[in-house]
Parts: sequence; structure tokens; C-alpha cells
Amino acid sequence: MLKLVAVNRKNFKDMPKECKRCFYWQTMDKFTGKNLREEKEKKRLEWFIRMKLETGCSGGFIAYQDNTAVGFVQCAPAKYFPNVKEYPSGLPSEDAAFLACLYVPNKENQRKGVGTLILKTGIKQLRQQEFKAVETFARKTSPENPSGPLGFYLKNGFKIKSDDEDFPLVRLALE
Ligand SMILES: CC(C)(COP(=O)(O)OP(=O)(O)OC[C@H]1O[C@@H](n2cnc3c(N)ncnc32)[C@H](O)[C@@H]1OP(=O)(O)O)[C@@H](O)C(=O)NCCC(=O)NCCS
Repeated sequence: MLKLVAVNRKNFKDMPKECKRCFYWQTMDKFTGKNLREEKEKKRLEWFIRMKLETGCSGGFIAYQDNTAVGFVQCAPAKYFPNVKEYPSGLPSEDAAFLACLYVPNKENQRKGVGTLILKTGIKQLRQQEFKAVETFARKTSPENPSGPLGFYLKNGFKIKSDDEDFPLVRLALE
């Protein structure tokens, strides 16, 4: 049984370590403090807490299987992820939830259906909100991409909405 729990102060420690310090989508600010790791993690947690206050949803979920953290998914309207502007396939739609990250960090857990289960569980939750669709920039040439490879999304029913040689924008309608 897989469960998605919104990121909060208590479970932040269970996020994949790379994701705890990742500001790829949110900000181009440079961090300069002495305790860089701590500073980044503090700011990252603050982002989830602010999202919760502003939108009612933390924007990030930790996936637990039998009480063990197995993955992370980050999803919110694209306006909360300014770096989407850098992608050549164009801006995600305003009616969609933008899937900024889907990550199963432990290689031993990959290709066993965990990512698909996280995606499907997340989509079930999004269906209960106002979103009309889920969109992400999937990658053609490598699985190393915040949300993973194109093949994963095509297999899960997404369609290419705007093509690109490496990062097409893909969409799954929720109606
Ligand atoms: C991409 C990812 C989320 C997919 O989750 P998963 O649990 O491994 O994938 P699933 O078992 O649910 O895969 C379902 C289908 O998606 C496709 N797929 C999944 N991973 C793939 C990969 N690496 N390359 C190509 N297709 C892939 C396949 O069609 C797969 O079906 P198959 O195994 O029967 O061929 C996960 O593998 C991951 O997080 N990988 C790391 C990616 C990375 O480096 N991210 C950087 C984070 S910043």
C-alpha cells in the first residue's frame, strides 16, 4: 500500500537528500552562507510551508510504502516554478498542475512500478482539486530529468502537447 503525505516540518527529513536542497524550479538565488546545506534545507522547508499557507496544499509529497519513504513528488501550478520559462517547448497551461519532480531515489526500487504507483496516487488526489490536467517536461534522451523520461509518461497515458528535440511538454487530461 502506497501513501502520499504532504511535506511538513515533521517528515521533511524523509525527503530524498537531493530534493531537500534542490531549488532548480523555484529560484535562481545564489546561496552564500557558511552552513550552505542547513541554509538550503531551511529555505526549502519554508517554501513548502508557504505553499501550504498560500494554496492550501504543500506542493510536495513524500511517498511511503509500509512506512518506508520510497519517493518524492512535487506538483503545483506552474506559476510557482519560475524556471519553466527556460524550456523551449513553451509554458505549461494555467489549467494544469505542473509535475516538477517525480523521483524514486533508490536504484534498487526503480523499474518495479513504484514511480507509476506514485504518479497514479498523485493523479487521484489532483482529480479531487480544480486541475483539468497534469503537465511536465519529460526527457527524450535520458531518464536523468526532474520528472523522469518521456517513455515513462507515454506509458502512463500522457500525450505530447508541444514537442522539442529533448524536453517535450506532455499532458494528461484529468476529465
Ligand atoms: C523515472 C522514475 C520516476 C520512474 O519510476 P520507476 O518506478 O523506476 O518506473 P516504473 O517501474 O513505474 O516504470 C514504468 C515504465 O516507465 C518507463 N520507464 C521507467 N523508467 C525508465 C527509464 N529509466 N528509461 C526508460 N523508460 C523508463 C518504462 O516503460 C517502464 O515500464 P517497463 O519497466 O515495463 O519497461 C524513476 O526511475 C526515477 O526516479 N529515476 C531517476 C531519474 C533521475 O535521475 N531523476 C533525477 C532527479 S533530479
